[in-house]
Order: sequence, then C-alpha cells, then structure tokens
Amino acid sequence: MKPGGTLAALVLGAAVWAGALAAAAGVAAERPGDPARGGAVFEEKRCARCHLPRGRGPGMGPALEAIRQPQGVLQLAGRLWNHAPVMFATFEKEGLRWPEVAQEQMADLMTYLQADPSRDPAPDLFQGQVLLIRKGCLKCHRLRGEGGLVGIELTKYHRGYQSPVAWATTIWNHSPRMAGHSARMGLLYPRFSGDEMVNLVGFLNSAAAASTQ
Ligand code: HEC
Ligand code: HEC
Repeated sequence: MKPGGTLAALVLGAAVWAGALAAAAGVAAERPGDPARGGAVFEEKRCARCHLPRGRGPGMGPALEAIRQPQGVLQLAGRLWNHAPVMFATFEKEGLRWPEVAQEQMADLMTYLQADPSRDPAPDLFQGQVLLIRKGCLKCHRLRGEGGLVGIELTKYHRGYQSPVAWATTIWNHSPRMAGHSARMGLLYPRFSGDEMVNLVGFLNSAAAASTQ
C-alpha cells in the first residue's frame, strides 16, 4: 500500500486504519486497549494520585472526570505533551523517577480515558507544517536536513507517526527529556491545544512518507 493510502484510511476510521497500518508498516496489528487494565495502569503510574474523582478532590491536577472523556487519541497525546513540565518538576522534587509507559499499557490507558483514534479529525497538513515551525521543533530537530542538531531527523521516525497510540507513548516517555533540553537551552516549552497535535503528526507522517519513496 502507498503511504497516501495510510492517510486516506485515517479519515475512514480506526478499524480500517489499524489494518492499513499493519499492511503499510509491516507491524503486527495492535492489541485493542482494555479499560479495566487501563484503570490499573492509571493507579500503578500514580496518575490517580493527582487526578482524583470529583468529590474526593481537589487533587494536584484536574479532576479525573475532566481528563476522562470522549476524545481522540492524538488530541489526548497533545494534552499529555503539555503535562510534562509540571509533572517533571513535582517528581524531581520528590525524587521519583518518571513513570515510563509501554505501548500496550498506553493502549489500555487511552481506552480507560475514553480516547479513541476514530474521534481524531482528519489532519490539516498545511496547518501541521506551520505548527512544526511555530512550536519550535526545528530548534532541536531537522526535517529533510534543515534545522537543529540536538534531536533526531524527524523523517526518520516514520513508524512513530503511523499509530496514534505509538505517538502517545513516544510523547509520554520523551517529553520530560525534551522539557529538560528546552530549559537548558532557554526555550519556552511549547503547549498544544485543540487539534494541533493531530495536524502536526499528520504533516510529519506525510513528510516522512514522501522522503522514503
Ligand atoms: C504530580 C501530579 C500529577 C501526576 C502524577 C499526573 N498528573 Fe496529569 N496533570 C497534573 C497537573 C498539575 C495538570 C495540569 C497541568 C497543566 O495544564 O499544565 C495535569 C494535566 C493532565 C492532563 C491534561 C488535562 C487537560 O485537559 O489539559 C491529562 C490528560 C493528564 N494530566 C493525564 C495524566 C496521566 C495519564 C497521568 C499518569 C500517567 C498523570 N496525568 C499523572 C498533575 C499530575
Ligand atoms: C529543546 C530541544 C527539543 C525540542 C524543542 C523538541 N525536541 Fe524532540 N527530541 C529532543 C531530544 C534531545 C530527543 C531525544 C530524546 C531522547 O531520546 O532522550 C528528542 C526526541 C524526539 C523524537 C523521537 C522519540 C523517540 O522515541 O526516539 C521525536 C519524534 C520528537 N523528538 C519530536 C519532536 C516534536 C514533534 C517537537 C516539536 C513539537 C520536538 N520534538 C521538540 C529535543 C527536542
């Protein structure tokens, strides 16, 4: 299947997308998330410590009901990206290690938080290209050789853009390190709102596909 097919499938929805993904990237089909296991991950990774149900709070973060609501997976990934600096600071102060999350655990966690890839809208690739510059990614990364030398060449990360759950996992595990680099370089850590992450990942996926043809 051509990379363009992967993008088209994104519009069609999750089930078709998962199939197209496996075919396009040669990856094993992803195991569907399980909400009960996701609830256990939410406890185990200490999310529940700061995100308490309404009526049991206030917790340090927004109430559980505020983060557990019907949403897209990439939309939620954008929220997780925003989250890094505040959580990083708290964990560092308490001497705790960043809770790494494996991809299967992320799939479960996403299901528990009612995030579903079929709820992500189709990406606006032009907006995505604008965002890559506006969010400062190219201060550290290169795209087709242009940009900074701190992070990876972004077209090399093709597989990571093809699965929303894989992307959410990447964001979660790497954002504290990116936050650390931003602070050392005196850069403002960029925040994402609305569908910005959807558009950015859509653009990165198409740029990576174009450069591997
Ligand atoms: C140390 C406390 C703490 C822990 C642990 C924590 N969070 Fe948070 N979380 C926060 C705070 C504070 C915010 C608000 C941050 C902001 O907007 O800058 C937040 C915001 C969020 C948001 C974004 C809400 C929105 O709509 O913008 C999501 C989603 C979220 N957390 C999920 C999680 C998940 C999933 C975990 C566990 C893997 C977790 N959090 C662990 C404190 C925490
Ligand atoms: C301040 C520098 C900095 C900025 C800004 C930055 N990154 Fe990174 N990024 C890094 C570094 C350093 C790594 C390698 C981190 C590691 O593996 O520890 C990285 C890793 C990555 C990876 C690879 C993750 C993996 O699993 O190998 C991706 C994808 C990525 N960044 C995307 C982005 C995007 C998209 C943006 C803009 C929204 C961005 N980065 C902004 C420094 C940055």
